[in-house]
Amino acid sequence: MDHLHVPDDGDNAFGRHLDATDRRNFLRWSGSAAAAALLVACDRSPTESSEALGLSQAGSTAAASGGVRIDLKDDFGILNFAYALEQLEAAFYTQVIRGFYGGATQEEQRILRDIKQHEVVHREFFQAALGGAGIPRLAVNFSAVDFGSRNSVLGTAVAFEDLGVGAYNGAAQFLRDGGYLLVAGKIVSVEARHASAIRDVLGRSFAPKAFDPAFTFEQVLRRAAPFIATNITLVNSPTAGRAGDQALAEEMVS
Ligand SMILES: [Fe+2]
Ligand SMILES: [Fe+2]
Repeated sequence: MDHLHVPDDGDNAFGRHLDATDRRNFLRWSGSAAAAALLVACDRSPTESSEALGLSQAGSTAAASGGVRIDLKDDFGILNFAYALEQLEAAFYTQVIRGFYGGATQEEQRILRDIKQHEVVHREFFQAALGGAGIPRLAVNFSAVDFGSRNSVLGTAVAFEDLGVGAYNGAAQFLRDGGYLLVAGKIVSVEARHASAIRDVLGRSFAPKAFDPAFTFEQVLRRAAPFIATNITLVNSPTAGRAGDQALAEEMVS
């Protein structure tokens, strides 16, 4: 069996963009007809300039100004949902490291730089893998974040990381392709380490519970929406009307 080539954990892999072989491996490995069709459409490479687009403020990304519809009827919809979250995280940390808040320690700067690199790789991975089936670049809105404030930056970071963990946990059960499930597992474990690292510098419990929450798509979108200027509409959500891990959600994402 071919194996999906996911950037490894070495520092030299940080920030490396996926090449055509990465994308081919991702899609071939899934073994589905839909993936094969995607391969044909998947001919664009991520570029550094796309990172700048990820920082576009409210309403400034023409491609996304009309809103985005994510159809969760199949794996590609779920992967697009993950792509949306990774776009949000990558844009946030990119802005954080552009000018650290006052008093940021070397340790905090190192952690935030490392997380930023991971998030950019996650975002570029989904962009490359989804190709023409991917949603456009979203416009973000960080007007509620004070990037000069340690509490604001780290508080937002831990909220995003906990949200990411609960999002992957909640979404993975709906993936039909075992290959995608493996990828989700490889990413959620990193998201959980991000959450732990930020929680640690904030003096919070590194892992408040023995079980992390599994959020519904609706729970995730409700929490992420204030930071995303592009309007996102979910279609065919398998969790519509479900409660999800509400109590845990409130406790974890505060
Ligand atoms: Fe991520
Ligand atoms: Fe993360």
